[in-house]
Amino acid sequence: MLSRVLGFVSADMAIDLGTANTLVYVPGRGIVLDEPSVVAVTQQRDGDRKVIAVGYEAKTMLGRTPSKIETIQPLRDGVIADFSAAEEMIKHFIRRVLKRRLFTSPRIMICVPASATPVERRAVHEAGLSAGARRVYLIEEPVAAAIGAGLPITEARGSMIVDIGGGTTDIAVLSMGSVLYSRSVRSAGNAFDEAIVNYVRFKYNLLIGATSAEAIKKESGCAIAKANGERMPIHIKGRDLHRGFPADITLTADDIPQALNLPIQQIVGGIRQALADVPPELTADICEAGIYLTGGGALLDRLDARFSQETGVKFKIAEDPLRCVVRGTGKALEQLDTMSDFLVKP
Ligand SMILES: Nc1ncnc2c1ncn2[C@@H]1O[C@H](COP(=O)(O)OP(=O)(O)OP(=O)(O)O)[C@@H](O)[C@H]1O
Ligand SMILES: [Mg+2]
Repeated sequence: MLSRVLGFVSADMAIDLGTANTLVYVPGRGIVLDEPSVVAVTQQRDGDRKVIAVGYEAKTMLGRTPSKIETIQPLRDGVIADFSAAEEMIKHFIRRVLKRRLFTSPRIMICVPASATPVERRAVHEAGLSAGARRVYLIEEPVAAAIGAGLPITEARGSMIVDIGGGTTDIAVLSMGSVLYSRSVRSAGNAFDEAIVNYVRFKYNLLIGATSAEAIKKESGCAIAKANGERMPIHIKGRDLHRGFPADITLTADDIPQALNLPIQQIVGGIRQALADVPPELTADICEAGIYLTGGGALLDRLDARFSQETGVKFKIAEDPLRCVVRGTGKALEQLDTMSDFLVKP
């Protein structure tokens, strides 16, 4: 009470530290931050790096910086690839969430991929502590996703979650709040973007950047060709590879599904393998309940239908798939007393 009057608030927070996006959830306030996982730095004379921008501001600098400025994506394939940049990013986001209030340092809960090694988990733990947290709890992403999707995680029933993020697709089977099986496929949102870049380059001789490819995917992407075969003009700012100047092209309706075929098939391969690997009782539960899709990749138009076609199992897109994991992490933090069994043991 006194601490409240004085303005001391313990702002505990849940963080989904993703390859593409970082989200922060504060109990009682909900999601308070959702920004790209990008840090822009300049090299100092003494060899140190100075952070000049984080999040959206840094993302707009990607591919556009003079040589003195470097943009870094501290996470790769869901795990920390650049420790000091990750630490700076977390520190910056924590500060932004806390603003100028007076604080006791927060307890934070961060999710880690189920397939992360002990060393990779420890790196996340350390990064949280050195970014100023008083305590760091870790939760496995599929467990957080299941909580966020509202699945009855304590029941003795198998459920499968497929999280299609930026760098990786993580496939996991849970029962009674534990991850019984997980595998990670290196094909997800970024692979979709690259596939579009390559397809447009080889079919139309047009060079586009990954950011334009991502925009096309979000606006007009589709996992199954539409039956009516309509043409849709997509104006892409790119360079004609023959003539060397800017050009526009018109894509046909099935260009994008064709472009995305290989990365989609790679994910399908992973799902089929997972269904084949788990014990038959669990497979039966999964087929009955359907497979849950989370992560930004789940928003690709008709991806659920394509997966159903390819596997014969029904798929359900979790509500608000981009934020499902952070919501689940936040709920786990709100119910820390009852959730301790589901957290990663230190
Ligand atoms: N409407 C959309 N259609 C298709 N893809 C989308 C859409 N919206 C976002 N995405 C893609 O989702 C991906 C990011 O998803 P998400 O934020 O779940 O990843 P992440 O959690 O940061 O990554 P990871 O889980 O691999 O660490 C990006 O590749 C983005 O292009
Ligand atoms: Mg993610």
